[in-house]
Amino acid sequence: MVKAAGLTYRVLIEAGALSGTGSALRLLLPSSRALLVSDSIVHSLYGEQVLKTLKAEKWQVSTYRLQPGEQSKTLLNASNLYDAAVDAGLDRNSPIIALGGGVVGDLAGFVASTYLRGVPLIMIPTSLLAQVDSSVGGKVAVNHPRGKNLIGTIYPPRLVIIDPLVTASLPARQLQAGLAEVIKYGIIENEKFFLWLEDNIDYLLAGDSTCLTGAIAESVRAKARVVEADEYENDYRRILNFGHTIGHALEAATSYSYYLHGEAVMAGMAAAVEIALHQKKIDRPAAERITALLNKVGIKKPPAGLTAEKVIDKLRQDKKRRESDLIFVLPTAIGSASIGPVNDEQFLKNILGLFLS
Ligand SMILES: NC(=O)c1ccc[n+]([C@@H]2O[C@H](COP(=O)([O-])OP(=O)(O)OC[C@H]3O[C@@H](n4cnc5c(N)ncnc54)[C@H](O)[C@@H]3O)[C@@H](O)[C@H]2O)c1
Ligand SMILES: [Zn+2]
Repeated sequence: MVKAAGLTYRVLIEAGALSGTGSALRLLLPSSRALLVSDSIVHSLYGEQVLKTLKAEKWQVSTYRLQPGEQSKTLLNASNLYDAAVDAGLDRNSPIIALGGGVVGDLAGFVASTYLRGVPLIMIPTSLLAQVDSSVGGKVAVNHPRGKNLIGTIYPPRLVIIDPLVTASLPARQLQAGLAEVIKYGIIENEKFFLWLEDNIDYLLAGDSTCLTGAIAESVRAKARVVEADEYENDYRRILNFGHTIGHALEAATSYSYYLHGEAVMAGMAAAVEIALHQKKIDRPAAERITALLNKVGIKKPPAGLTAEKVIDKLRQDKKRRESDLIFVLPTAIGSASIGPVNDEQFLKNILGLFLS
C-alpha cells in the first residue's frame, strides 16, 4: 500500500502478475471500457497477453501505441491520446492503463489526470526504472521543447501492477540503468538493503528473477516510506534526488543523447559520494563501499569533450531556474543521507574534474 496526495493505492508485485490484470481491474472498477497505452516495443512483447486477460473479464479495450523513446513524451501525443480516449468512449470509471516504461507511464498518466478531470490510472511498469521509481509516487508529466517534464502534475494511480518477469526482455543497458535507482534506495535509506545488494549484485546484473523481485519490492517500499514521511516532514522527499543534481546536469550537457537517466544518476551518485567525503560528511570506509558497489554496476565513461565547465554551466542554469541554492543530497553513512547547499563552484569543478576529461 502506498499513500500519496491523500490517496492510498495498492502496488502488486508478483512474478506473473501481468496475467491477473483483467480480474484485478474488474474488482476495482465498475466500467466496461478501457484504454491500453503502450509503446510499440512493449506492445509487441506483452500487449497481447494483457489484452487477453482484459477480454477474459469482458473489458472492451481500445489500444494506443507510441513510438518508443523520450521524444514521444509530448503535448502532441497527449492530444492524440485525448482523441483516442474520446473514440474509446471512456467514462469517469474507465481506466487508462499504462503498459510500458517511464515514458508511457508519464504520458498516459498525464492524460489520465486531465481527461474528464481525471479517470482511473493503472500503471503496469515494464522497465526496471519504471517499476522502482516512476510508477510509484504519482508524478506525471510531458516535456516542453525547452525542458524535460515542464508540464505535469501529481496524480496517484489507482493500482500499480509489477511483474518482475517482464524485465527478462530488457536490454542489459536498461537493466543496469534501472539498478542505479535501486542502489540509490540502499544508500540513502536502508543499510540492511545495501548489505543485501552487496551480496546479490552479480545475480541482479545477470537478471535473476527472484533477486530482482526482492530488489523491486524493497525499492518500492523505500520510495513509499520516503513519500509518506514527506507528508509530515517537509522536504524529506528530496533525498530521493541523490545523484540527480549532477546526473541531470550530465544529461543536459550531453543533450539527453549520451546517457540513459540511470547512467547519469550513477555518475552523479559517485560524484556526490566524493563531495561528502571531502566535506567529511561520511567516513572513508563507508564511502569506499558505496563507490565499490557503484563500480560493480558500472559507471559510464563520459563522452570526449565533456568538460567540468560545461556541467557547471548546466548546474548554474538549474540553480537559476529554481531560484535557489544548488542542493545536493550527500550520504552521511550507509543507509542515510542529508540535504544541503554546495555553492563553491571551484570545489565542484575540482570534484567533477576527477570524473571528466
Ligand atoms: N514520474 C516519475 O516520478 C519519474 C521518475 C523517473 C523517471 N521518469 C521518466 O521516465 C522516463 C524514462 O523511463 P524509462 O527508462 O522506462 O524509459 P522508456 O519508457 O523510454 O523505456 C526504455 C526503453 O525500454 C523499452 N522497454 C520497456 N520495457 C521493456 C521490457 N520489459 N522489455 C524490453 N524493452 C522494454 C522501451 O520500449 C524503451 O525503448 C523519462 O521520461 C523520465 O522523465 C519519471
Ligand atoms: Zn531518477
